[in-house]
Amino acid sequence: MKVYDQVVELAKRRGFFWPSFSIYGGESGLYDYGPLGVLLRDNIVRIWKESYLADDAIFIDTPVIVPASVFRASGHLDKFADLATECSKCHNRQKLETVLEASGFHNIIKTVPEANEFLANNVVKCIVCGNRITSATEFKLMFRMPSQGSVGDLYLRPETAQGIFVNFKLLNNFYRNRLPMAVAQLGKGFRNEISPRQSLIRLKEFSQGEVEVFVDPQKKFWKDFTGSHRLNLLPRSGAPVTAEVTSSEAFPLMSSNSMSYFIDKTASILRDVGINLDSVRFRQVPLNDLAHYSSDTWDVEVRIDDDWVEVVGIADRNDLANHEKSSGETMSVKMEDRTITPSIIEPSYGIDRIFISVMIHSFRTRENGFKVLSLPESVSPYHAAVFPLVNKDGLDKLAESFFASLRKKDPYVVYDQSGSIGRRYARQDEIGTPYCITFDSQTLQDSTVTVRERDSAKQVRFRTDDLVSAGIIGNPAIRDAFRPSVPQ
Ligand code: ATP
Ligand code: GLY
Repeated sequence: MKVYDQVVELAKRRGFFWPSFSIYGGESGLYDYGPLGVLLRDNIVRIWKESYLADDAIFIDTPVIVPASVFRASGHLDKFADLATECSKCHNRQKLETVLEASGFHNIIKTVPEANEFLANNVVKCIVCGNRITSATEFKLMFRMPSQGSVGDLYLRPETAQGIFVNFKLLNNFYRNRLPMAVAQLGKGFRNEISPRQSLIRLKEFSQGEVEVFVDPQKKFWKDFTGSHRLNLLPRSGAPVTAEVTSSEAFPLMSSNSMSYFIDKTASILRDVGINLDSVRFRQVPLNDLAHYSSDTWDVEVRIDDDWVEVVGIADRNDLANHEKSSGETMSVKMEDRTITPSIIEPSYGIDRIFISVMIHSFRTRENGFKVLSLPESVSPYHAAVFPLVNKDGLDKLAESFFASLRKKDPYVVYDQSGSIGRRYARQDEIGTPYCITFDSQTLQDSTVTVRERDSAKQVRFRTDDLVSAGIIGNPAIRDAFRPSVPQ
């Protein structure tokens, strides 16, 4: 069974995520986050946000409903579409790219006439019933709202980015007219995907964490830095290479210092949330496959079973010039020696795809068949679980009172007194809780408890008052006792 399928099963059973509205038959491409999913997702978002705060980014929040004028200027109204096929026999609808790949073709086709010519000359089959596919159509990806706004049609945004671009002047004023400037937004995006599938990977409603980095177009410089990872790079031309990305403007594989910097930074964020960088690749998108708004893009792809899934796209964009032209409002900034309209480097993070990648890369099966989520402490939904070994001799009362004190220090703890101790450990392992604290007969004598670490299953005794005063996460005594098995 694929790891993806095992994780989706675990996610539903243990409250991470599941299909929405299932009592009414469900709706493809819509998913709920359950109680543990919300906690895990919050932690991933926090790490992303703190990483950008450390780079002096500012954050805003703009509406999901957007007037057509914005998307006319950005080019989405005309160009944000996929080519679709519909089987004449079973009526299954797919992206053209998907049916081509399933029939062994990897061609990049961008227009309907090109697609129809290709389908007339090559045998491409329906992925469901095997019937021959003979034509393609253009399928617009934005959801249009039924009501009319004061400036014409309204759309649900397919990316959060435009809300930042249209506010550029206000934001730069807030930032005291300095450049470079990074502005971030976390929010929902909506796309009428032709074939929503693979749970959180292709949704109709999804979360993006987008950062728009405004730079001088002549240099596209962010800052000098030392690359911190060896990355698997697939440049547009030339052979794949594993290398450290450096800050040099002359780094031959990247178009700018900003592109290199945000690629390296993205690797740090993915590693910190629990994604294995050996199973990540940075692929420069071929020129004929770039989005309409981009002159250069590196897709960050994560290995999931035998597939590579894009989780982040880092694009070089030029949207301010378009908004300046369409709105008549200036988007320029006065530098010492000249006036410029900034270029934009945009790392766009798909939070849902990162979320499922974290679960998949953390998933292990023990020799006894039990499942473990080896999540980093910083993202696991709970930091610790507290158990009385038995619910008698006053142990349960002691454990409850310890739990109440610990929870005042760290709210991300849980209490469990039901079932065998082995069963309770297994329940916590499966949801990634790094430590289990057990009250046993020795606790009655010396006020010590066992702390069991998830990955090694090693147990060490600690005094209860030391745990309450120093907490669990970041407690140096716990760290030392279980090093090196704790994923840091
Ligand atoms: P794909 O080629 O897989 O459709 P994309 O190139 O259209 O992705 P972008 O437009 O670059 O994706 O969007 C930025 C990020 O937003 C993606 O890297 C992805 O993580 C996320 N994303 C885009 N579309 C979806 C979706 N339908 N469901 C979940 N996440 C998405
Ligand atoms: N902002 C990149 C995208 O969503 O297309």
